[in-house]
Amino acid sequence: MDEISKIVEQGYNKIAEDYYSHRNLNKFNIELERFASLISNDAHVLDVGCGGGIPTAKFLVNKGFTVTGIDLSETMLNLARKNVPTAEFVKMDMNKLEFNENTFDGIISVYTLFHVPKENHFEIFKKFFKVLKPEGILLINTGISESEGMSNFFGVPMFWSNFKHKTTLDLIKKAGFSIISEAMLERGGEYQYWVFGIKTKT
Ligand SMILES: C[S@@+](CC[C@H](N)C(=O)[O-])C[C@H]1O[C@@H](n2cnc3c(N)ncnc32)[C@H](O)[C@@H]1O
Repeated sequence: MDEISKIVEQGYNKIAEDYYSHRNLNKFNIELERFASLISNDAHVLDVGCGGGIPTAKFLVNKGFTVTGIDLSETMLNLARKNVPTAEFVKMDMNKLEFNENTFDGIISVYTLFHVPKENHFEIFKKFFKVLKPEGILLINTGISESEGMSNFFGVPMFWSNFKHKTTLDLIKKAGFSIISEAMLERGGEYQYWVFGIKTKT
């Protein structure tokens, strides 16, 4: 595992409980509902950076979808297993996705890409494209302006990295996705850049 992933993993292992005690679990219900409306009833969804499984994995399971969540942090994964016992949770770095081509009907990765060095974002988008089935749906968010560095997050050192939003959009398109919608949205008092993409038939 690289140095950055190690910092992020160790950080979330320490702050998992604290993070969830401050998390507004309803702030992106609109996006979750919209994602659910774009996939079929029997869809298999990958939640990348699933954290403690709430709200995303829990929401999806309650809708009847099959869910696989991946995360770096074993503490987060254990919370997720407790919160959403019917989903599958696997320790995996999103920089090294180990799934076969055309596996998932949808991928959600929210509040996570900003912990990965931006130089890796394009490779990740390409991998998302590959592991999605044709017509598969992608939902991601990132920060809104270009930045990279460390800051204190709930008392631990944490790494953050974002392109400016236009670059993120260009890279998602370049990876092969057609864009359903993209917008800077305020959710729970903070702005993120949100993108819905689709793997149009190749
Ligand atoms: C801010 S939390 C968000 C969790 C969840 N997506 C949510 O919206 O509540 C970020 C999560 O991403 C995970 N994460 C960060 N970098 C990752 C990586 N390279 N691979 C897998 N998970 C990662 C962290 O361990 C943490 O659980």
